[in-house]
Amino acid sequence: MTTGYCSVFFLYLLLQQSFAIHEPAAPDLVGDTCKQIAGDDPNVDSAFCVDSLRPAASAAGCDDLPSLAAVSSRLAAANATGAEAVAKVALEEGDQRLSQYEKSCLESCRELFSKAAYDLEEAAEMIAAGSFDDADVRMSSAVDAPAMCEEGFREGGVESPLEKEDSDLFQLAVIALAITARLLKILNTY
Ligand SMILES: *[C@@H]1O[C@H](CO)[C@@H](O)[C@H](O)[C@H]1NC(C)=O
Repeated sequence: MTTGYCSVFFLYLLLQQSFAIHEPAAPDLVGDTCKQIAGDDPNVDSAFCVDSLRPAASAAGCDDLPSLAAVSSRLAAANATGAEAVAKVALEEGDQRLSQYEKSCLESCRELFSKAAYDLEEAAEMIAAGSFDDADVRMSSAVDAPAMCEEGFREGGVESPLEKEDSDLFQLAVIALAITARLLKILNTY
């Protein structure tokens, strides 16, 4: 399963060729990509993008945009799973103290995070298989999850205990989506 992410052969060749003809070689894939997507999308913070993607990209040995898109989606998936665990602990630890309303919010956030993790994991597989449009749909759905989680607390006028988790997950999902959008744009241009 893991072998697929960084070996999208045809695309790799196609993109490499495109870059060779139309763009100078990119010495810093993560830095350049983060700068580009931050310029296109005000939701993307370039520094956060570089800090979070660089370790994952170098661990996976990514050297092209498709593999970076897949890795960023898996990173966001892992973050969603982590957020789900945080929500679970908050529910367990707050059992005596939380209102029924807060508990139901935490429960629905757990479900949203779980679904987001699944969607982002699937999206990574879709990218590895070259199905960028399908991946885009799954990622878009995951991008909405953190805001939906926050909305529950806001509507009830209670402070969200998952603000950091929601903000991190939103950023990471937006980054994965933006890289995929860039990939689609490049492919549609050639
Ligand atoms: C999510 O990702 C952010 C940024 O990389 C990190 O700081 C945070 O600890 C992660 N959260 C979880 C729950 O894994």
